[in-house]
Amino acid sequence: MNVKKHKFPGVYIVIEDDGSERIATKNLVPGQKVYGERVIKWEGEEYRIWNPNRSKLAAAILNGLKNFPIKSGTNVLYLGIASGTTASHVSDIIGWGGKIFGIEFSPRVLRELVPLVEERRNIIPILGDATKPEEYRALVTKVDVIFEDVAQPTQAKILIDNVNAYLKSGGYGMIAIKSRSIDVTKEPEEVFREVEKELSEYFEVVERISLEPYEKDHALIVVRKP
Ligand SMILES: C[S@@+](CC[C@H](N)C(=O)[O-])C[C@H]1O[C@@H](n2cnc3c(N)ncnc32)[C@H](O)[C@@H]1O
Repeated sequence: MNVKKHKFPGVYIVIEDDGSERIATKNLVPGQKVYGERVIKWEGEEYRIWNPNRSKLAAAILNGLKNFPIKSGTNVLYLGIASGTTASHVSDIIGWGGKIFGIEFSPRVLRELVPLVEERRNIIPILGDATKPEEYRALVTKVDVIFEDVAQPTQAKILIDNVNAYLKSGGYGMIAIKSRSIDVTKEPEEVFREVEKELSEYFEVVERISLEPYEKDHALIVVRKP
């Protein structure tokens, strides 16, 4: 086994003995496992394997994502944080100098996040509805990146409203689009193009990447706020 750096700072490539490769992040809270992920030890450090079947951000990276604005010290507004699977890897990458404001509207799901954040203090869980960004204004500062994964028909509008409220100029929005949540009757490609068009009225659309084969009919779109 070997571990080397990925081109994105904070992301690592684990090379198995059979030559196969996985991506991983360095565990910010050694000893803590979040979703049953495999943990490996290498040269005194602990790495958590980042599973693309459980995390759309990992799927995007493995599919060749070009723009990855999350690095050490980044502040992130995460819409639809759920129980923290993807957020835990983002937390590893941003380190103690960054912060994740995690919005989740299901109290039951948010409760699962609580034990995680007791030690992982760079995640701030917030019970809130991402369609109403003004509701969490007292708790969230301006951020460098907004990541959205809510699987709702109005996903694009949710991103636009949160970007307008919380993203710094020059910051990035990343949105996981599930085409069937928007319109089951249309071809995914058509849905993705419509979402891009809606977003491009406000932002520069910098990239779209398919999440197949890890997530059927999903894409990740990256935008930049001028
Ligand atoms: C696909 S899951 C997110 C998975 C998570 N991003 C991960 O990779 O670990 C979508 C989550 O968004 C939440 N959600 C949906 N609509 C929301 C809204 N309007 N505001 C806040 N959370 C929402 C759901 O309760 C669910 O937990």
